[in-house]
Amino acid sequence: MAAAIANLDIESLGNQAEEMVQALGAISAEPGRLVRLFLTPEHRRAADLVAGWMQQSGLVVSEDALGTVRGRLGGTGKRRLLIGSHIDTVIDAGKYDGNFGVIAGIVAASYFARGGRDLPFGIDVLAFGDEEGSRYATTLSSSAAVAGVFDVNWLTQPDRDGVTLEDAIRAYGKNPDEVRAAAYRREEALAYVEVHIEQGPVLETRDQPLGVVTAIVGQTYFNVEVTGEAGHAGTVPMTLRRDALAGAAEMIQLAENLARENHTDVVATVGRLSVQPNASNVIPARVEFVLDLRSTSDSKRHAIAEQFCSGIRAIAERRHLGLNLAQTRNAETTLCDPRLQEGFASAVRSLEREPVLLGSGAGHDGQAMARLCPIGMLFVRCRGGISHNPMEYTSPRDMGFAIAALIRFIERFDVEAFG
Ligand code: GLV
Ligand code: MN
Ligand code: MN
Repeated sequence: MAAAIANLDIESLGNQAEEMVQALGAISAEPGRLVRLFLTPEHRRAADLVAGWMQQSGLVVSEDALGTVRGRLGGTGKRRLLIGSHIDTVIDAGKYDGNFGVIAGIVAASYFARGGRDLPFGIDVLAFGDEEGSRYATTLSSSAAVAGVFDVNWLTQPDRDGVTLEDAIRAYGKNPDEVRAAAYRREEALAYVEVHIEQGPVLETRDQPLGVVTAIVGQTYFNVEVTGEAGHAGTVPMTLRRDALAGAAEMIQLAENLARENHTDVVATVGRLSVQPNASNVIPARVEFVLDLRSTSDSKRHAIAEQFCSGIRAIAERRHLGLNLAQTRNAETTLCDPRLQEGFASAVRSLEREPVLLGSGAGHDGQAMARLCPIGMLFVRCRGGISHNPMEYTSPRDMGFAIAALIRFIERFDVEAFG
């Protein structure tokens, strides 16, 4: 099969990306599984590797106070097209989520740096470090800083070990007082675009390598602390117990029922729970869990959030449990700009592939960047739709198509349309 389409060598672009994905995927906090959290030594090593690639590609590299690596192509004074994704990972991650988007941006920018064509705008490739929210509850803090919407109250939030974001920034060798300087001026940023693996099965089902994202799902996170009373598992009668875990289980069941009974795209997940004292013969005294609630309909998500909050208050009251409920995140559904959607669709068609239009159920840095400028996303098929799992896989050929589409998108980008 011909490897080159419209002068772009899909196979060689894909093989280059695969080599880079493997190199980045080898940087982990743990042997045997991929764990790379925000502002950790692994983040530092990954950022250094990315910065080196940017330099070799002819980009001018800098780093902001939250560790976002920025590679610039094109002179100062020009308005800029921002291309980004993230290099942090979930715990026991795949190698492609976020990482491939950063690599796609670097490889595409290097095509232009090597003389592909002189562009009437600058390109900045951004490697964010806080998309997964695996370390701090707020998440998207690095893209929020770049978008100029970082909330200074986030600096005092602790991670699981009690290290505040402010201390983590200092330990990373940065100055929290300089977060504000990470922001673009509105007139400087033309648009933000991101290439990302789909993390779902639609493209595979449609037998197409590339999809154009129409909207990113809205998300609400609740942190729930349930307090009961520790007691002997053998001696305290069932009627006299204040079991924090049994109460939390009923609350989690409520979240699942509310989402299921809605019969729409509302999804509710509790993926993190801690139990104290966590001993088999002690009635649990305290449980903490996080509810992740998503839907492309903001009104449905808000309605279910309200029902969940009132429902768990009633459960706590009936079971004589203490309850501490905090909303730690709320992101409304983010629409992708129709001009950028059409730009990606036309780029995909130029590669003789059919662009599939689809929504994103996953969160992305575009949610924060949309507060700065129009955003667009290109999705790439991943095997079995599997993600947040070490089995995650996107073929080199599909990555080649994605990078070629990004190059075509950049070539056709109409700077005047974003004036
Ligand atoms: C990030 O991948 C998220 O959607 O939670
Ligand atoms: Mn991601
Ligand atoms: Mn992810």
